[in-house]
Amino acid sequence: MPRAVIVGSGREIPPNCVTNAMMARLMDTSHEWIVERTGIETRYFVDEGVATSDLGAAASRKALEAAGVSKDEVDLVIFATMTPDHYFPGCGGLLQAKLDMRNTPCFDIRQQCVGFVYGMQLADAQIRAGFAKTVLLVGAEVHAGFMPYTKGEWDYLYGKTDVALSKELFDKNTRFRDRIVLFGDGGGAVVLKAAEDDTSGVIESILRTDGREWDKLHVPGVGFKHRPYVSHEQLDRWDQLPIVEGRAVFKLATTLMAEVTHEILRRNQLLIEDLDMVLMHQANLRINTYVQKMLGLPDEKVYNNIQRYGNTTAATLPLCWDECVREGRIKKGDLVLMVAIGGGLHWGATLLRA
Ligand code: ACO
Repeated sequence: MPRAVIVGSGREIPPNCVTNAMMARLMDTSHEWIVERTGIETRYFVDEGVATSDLGAAASRKALEAAGVSKDEVDLVIFATMTPDHYFPGCGGLLQAKLDMRNTPCFDIRQQCVGFVYGMQLADAQIRAGFAKTVLLVGAEVHAGFMPYTKGEWDYLYGKTDVALSKELFDKNTRFRDRIVLFGDGGGAVVLKAAEDDTSGVIESILRTDGREWDKLHVPGVGFKHRPYVSHEQLDRWDQLPIVEGRAVFKLATTLMAEVTHEILRRNQLLIEDLDMVLMHQANLRINTYVQKMLGLPDEKVYNNIQRYGNTTAATLPLCWDECVREGRIKKGDLVLMVAIGGGLHWGATLLRA
């Protein structure tokens, strides 16, 4: 059975860089607090009107170009996001139209920060089963819509107006400061094909879900549990914003990412020392440093970019992959582990040879 190998990747980072000092214009926070607790220094946001499928399409064009694959060769699209352009349809078909592809089947998957690992398993399974030959796997997010800012507050954030923020708005943002400093926008994509030899490609993916932990990371409003599914009452309570039980997630992340790493290595009779690069989801630099220590990994075998981008959810792993490949940190034949945890609660790992 031919396994899937990544033959090209691309990324798209939107133009608007927001520093921690800029965030402190809108709420009671500081560069020092954010860096010490999360490692994040900057994050990027799209211009108003730019959506997740746009970032996905831009990243996909670069991935196809890097792979030397034409859009017409793609016979399956998998799009992972938790911030789709519309409630429905999903981003897969929108991306397909933007890339001017026709009739290619599209899966929309929503495993939040683990969407890309689930997508890798799905792409690999489709290729191994012979259902697909060339898969475009995309992870993209526009978190800007989660920011509780009015147009005036965005303008103030970017220094486009001197009209100072009212105490009421400042206090409103401060109420959500534990969450809104964490996220940024971005898109990443990879093209996968059947490996021509058995030395490269996906070796194994392990996927896990524990739905009992769903409430640790979730959006309480805007869902079909409610009638109507969105209402003024929900919006007045800010129920469209995610709930993040930060400390609980921190504990689960460190334990489960280390656990699944050991499991996938054990199952493949490999040791930590055999890994050339570990790409972890980027939710908090402290989580990743902790896991790195637990696993006994040297600095050069771990790549973090949360400092620049914040948490970009499903886009995180393809962003890391693309940067590492283009900077020569991942080379052909390297043994790479992708590992992630996120809302669901989902977690998992993919082990592959570049
Ligand atoms: N700026 C300044 N102070 C803040 C901020 C901020 N941005 N956010 C919180 N604080 C304050 C709190 O109000 C609290 O103040 P108090 O002691 O006066 O009550 C104090 O800092 C400590 O708050 P904690 O929540 O205990 O801070 P912690 O060190 O746990 O850091 C964080 C919070 C960053 C969220 C951390 O728990 C974390 O990273 N958790 C995991 C990440 C996560 O869950 N990400 C979401 C995953 S996304 C996904 O899956 C889709």
